[in-house]
Amino acid sequence: MIRFENVTKTYSGGATRAVDNLNLEIESGKVFGFLGPNGAGKTTTIKIMTGILQPDAGTVWLEHADIAKDTIEAKRMFGFVPDSFEMFERLTGIDYLRFLADVYQVGEAERKAHLDQYLPLFDLEKAIGQQIRSFSHGMKQKLQIIGSTIHQPRIWILDEPMVGLDPASMHVLKQKMRDYCDSGKTVFFSTHVLDVAERLCDEIGIIRDGKLIAQGAPDALMRSESATSLEDVFLNLTVKEG
Ligand SMILES: Nc1ncnc2c1ncn2[C@@H]1O[C@H](COP(=O)(O)OP(=O)(O)OP(=O)(O)O)[C@@H](O)[C@H]1O
Ligand SMILES: [Mg+2]
Repeated sequence: MIRFENVTKTYSGGATRAVDNLNLEIESGKVFGFLGPNGAGKTTTIKIMTGILQPDAGTVWLEHADIAKDTIEAKRMFGFVPDSFEMFERLTGIDYLRFLADVYQVGEAERKAHLDQYLPLFDLEKAIGQQIRSFSHGMKQKLQIIGSTIHQPRIWILDEPMVGLDPASMHVLKQKMRDYCDSGKTVFFSTHVLDVAERLCDEIGIIRDGKLIAQGAPDALMRSESATSLEDVFLNLTVKEG
């Protein structure tokens, strides 16, 4: 479960209201897709829910933990794939994954099982012994995806995870996101890939100018907007007139 209560965040001394009184609850077992135009406030929201940024006001609950107050407990609960690479370029891929496994105190058997499963799925077996600085964009993205779930978190948060993935890797990621939720966990991800969101998500939230302007299952949103695709819903709601 993820819950935002009256979350507001401004930048530049209040001149930019990046997130404006956000209230949102996502039940466990759901894939939640967070949509919105460039600059709408998605990354800011994700940085608040992962404790990277402090909101001006409001609370984010990850299960029963308040990210601002029960920070360590909340941080154990999620895995995170940021939209930019925050990796140690001189480490090898496998050292990076071992480092994360150590931080999260993952046992030898569990980490081996995770890597035995994911490295072949993402075609990283050959490269994993090389320094991260030699990795392509997509390879780094896959390394972050693998690392983010090494501790089997109950909440998986991803900021535009599909950017840069080849079709086979994209397929694997979608499957893993689905499996994750089917086991009762929660996925929260932002994306601009609306056809994927339409097929993959149990629930969608659309943000514009920091405000949540729509929330619901893809088919319910399509019905209420008399649209035949999530893309139509998105364009109806977010393209400003005039
Ligand atoms: N560090 C910052 N300082 C000042 N303004 C910022 C900062 N980060 C974001 N903003 C502003 O906050 C607003 C929301 O930005 P944010 O990055 O959350 O959008 P986004 O929905 O993730 O966009 P995108 O789809 O392009 O990734 C924008 O107006 C942006 O210019
Ligand atoms: Mg963003």
